[in-house]
This record gives sequence, structure tokens and C-alpha cells, in this order.
Amino acid sequence: MPIRLAVPNEILSGERRIALEPGIAKRLIAMGVEVSMEKGAALSAHFSDEAFEGVKIVDTPQELYKNASVIFKVQPPTMEELDMMEPGTVVAGFMAPHKNEDLMHKMCEKNITTLAMELVPRITRAQSMDALSSQASIAGYKGVLMGADMASVFFPMLTTAAGTIRPARVLIIGVGVAGLQAIATAKRLGAIVEAYDVRTATREQVESLGGKFIDTGVSADGEGGYARELTDEEKQQQQDVLAKHIAMSDVVISTAAIPGKPSPKIISKQMVEDMKVGAVIIDLASEGGGNCELTQPGETVDFESRVTIHGPLNVASQTPVHASEMYARNLFNLLSPFITEEGELDLDMEDEVIAKTVLTCSGEVKSDRYRREEVTK
Ligand code: NAI
Repeated sequence: MPIRLAVPNEILSGERRIALEPGIAKRLIAMGVEVSMEKGAALSAHFSDEAFEGVKIVDTPQELYKNASVIFKVQPPTMEELDMMEPGTVVAGFMAPHKNEDLMHKMCEKNITTLAMELVPRITRAQSMDALSSQASIAGYKGVLMGADMASVFFPMLTTAAGTIRPARVLIIGVGVAGLQAIATAKRLGAIVEAYDVRTATREQVESLGGKFIDTGVSADGEGGYARELTDEEKQQQQDVLAKHIAMSDVVISTAAIPGKPSPKIISKQMVEDMKVGAVIIDLASEGGGNCELTQPGETVDFESRVTIHGPLNVASQTPVHASEMYARNLFNLLSPFITEEGELDLDMEDEVIAKTVLTCSGEVKSDRYRREEVTK
């Protein structure tokens, strides 16, 4: 039987993205997939129902879920949403497994197959399916725009009749996907950009984008290209060097993260006290608690009328058109190789990408990472 793909409205407060866009809907329909979407679900991402040619628009989530064999989501399903799904349904979306153990159990109970987008392996073949990267890139771009907007200075050097204006100094901490996009965006806006990461490979990447790499003498390359946690000594060494650069910056964009762990605290209260009056910190690591000691996730802190510390959450959602387009393409690229000529889903559990992305299947947690955590509890 052809796939009956359903795309519900994202109900999490503030979530404006949607897991489908008209171009991807068209390609799926051409492959024989029956596509349904909840009425008005894409409006928050600025797509009207009419833009989805050939997609069946369904009035209620109950009706949508009842008839679905595959569901595309952005945010993890809620318990109520899981209740509405039929056993055996395949759900693809972000699942945040480290904080959703109850959901994982319920998915197993209901025999739901879940493809967790955060588990897509960071290998060359899977780049087009990598939603962590597509969404982080948007966050890096948007974070710089937020910084430019909140800053008390121009980013570019300006030569005006009233004299020459010096360019802003922007510091990027953490040079993963978000950090690299932040460097490129701040450079395009004309700022002087410095960047820092604990992974040694990032020096070349920073320099290739025209940024200056800050060498703290600490390198902490961890497993799978990610960073490891620093020792107390390394942290101190890092802080001593970084403090000077933070004090000179007009805008700091911090993106440092360690998978499955709280964000490392890199910017201390003392460092904020030593910053220029009017300086801004955009803490893109707020989702994991933030890189600055003073960050309040989801809030903007005005520190003694001197420094603004902004802790935005779900930043990609603030550019909903392109975030949805890129995310929907990631989902399509993940699943389309397994759609047969008859429009059926034939997932190959031996495929490296699928094997690593499957979180639950046949009533069990399949991901080694989360099964192991369960066992050690
Ligand atoms: P992330 O969001 O997990 O972390 C952001 C950055 O923070 C990382 O560069 C990390 O090294 C850095 N960081 C962690 N602790 C730090 C500290 N104490 N001080 C300063 N910086 C710190 O990273 P993201 O963007 O998810 O990328 C992680 C890795 O995956 C990178 O090596 C990236 O190149 C790689 N990658 C590979 C892909 C592929 O081959 N398909 C696709 C995307 C990323």
C-alpha cells in the first residue's frame, strides 16, 4: 500500500517551522505517496494550504493521525499525539531522546518506529539529511543579525562626512556549523571577526572564512569530530586567554556545545563585568543552559545597564520559510531512497544511516546510545 504521509500542525509554543514545503510535497506525490496535512499547519511558516498542490487538507489532528502510516514532525510528538497514532506508524522528526525517556517508552509500547533526526550520522553521505546542520546554520546566521540589531555600534567600517567609523569587533565562540555560519555572516556585514574552538581542525576553517583564530593552547578533540569536556586546568587556561578577547569585543556570539551534555560555561560573570559598556552577548547555546554564567535561556538580561546577554531559544524557527524548506529536504533525502516504485516504504534497517537514525522499532529502543543509557540507569 502506498505511504499515507501526514504532517500535523506543530503545537509547541513558539514553533513556527513545519516538516513539509510545497516543493517536497510535489516530489513525494510524484513518487506515489499520498500526502495529507492538517489545515493551516504551514501558515506559521508562511505557506498557505493552497500552496500545497495535491495535498489533502485535513480538519482535525485526530483524523490526520488515524489515517497515517508515516508522520513528518519537527518537534518530538507529545504523549497526546502518540495516543492518536496507529500502532506501526513511522515517525520522523527531532526526538530529543536524552530528555524524553517517557516518550521513548510509549513509542515502544505502541510499536511506533521513530527516526530521530538528531541521530543522523555526521558522515559525508548523510550531509543532505543532516537537520542538525541545516538548522544550526540558520541559527548562526540569525544570531549575528540579532547581535547587530542589539549592538550599540555599526558592524562595518564607514567613511562618512562626519569622520571614519571603526568596524565592530565580533567574537565567535564554538566553530561548529552555527559558528562557521556566524563568522561568514559577521564578515559579510563588515565586522572584524575573531573565533575560538577547542577543536584544532577549526583553525583552518576560521581562517578560510577570513576570521582570526584565537589560540588558547587548549585542544580537546573528542569522539566523532565532536569536542570533549575540558579538565579544570584546561578551562582555566582557556579562560585566561579568552578573557582578553571578550573584553575587547562589541558582540560575542557563543555556540559551544558538547553532545548530550549541558553547554560548557565559558563566559564568567567576571568576564562580563570586564566587557565594554554597550557590549552584547548572543548565547546560541541557551538550549543547553548557555555558555555564559549569566544567561537566562529564553530571556534577555540587562547586566547592570552595561552588557546585554540574550539567550534565544529555537532560533531556526525565527526564519521559518527557509528552516522548513531545508528541514523538509533533509527528511525527503533520508526517506526517499526507501520509497518503492509503488510508493511504499521499504526501510532497510541494515543501511548505515537508517540503522543509526532509528530510535525505536518493533517495541524496542534500537539506538545503542540510548539503550546503553537505559541499561546503566
Ligand atoms: P556542536 O553544536 O556540537 O558544538 C559547537 C562547537 O562548540 C563545536 O565546534 C565544538 O568543538 C565547540 N565546543 C565545545 N566545547 C567547547 C569549549 N569548551 N570551548 C570552545 N568551543 C567548544 O557542533 P556541530 O556544529 O554539531 O558540529 C560538530 C562536529 O560535527 C564538527 O566537527 C563538524 O565539523 C562535524 N560535522 C560533520 C558533518 C559531516 O561530515 N556530515 C556535518 C556537520 C557537522
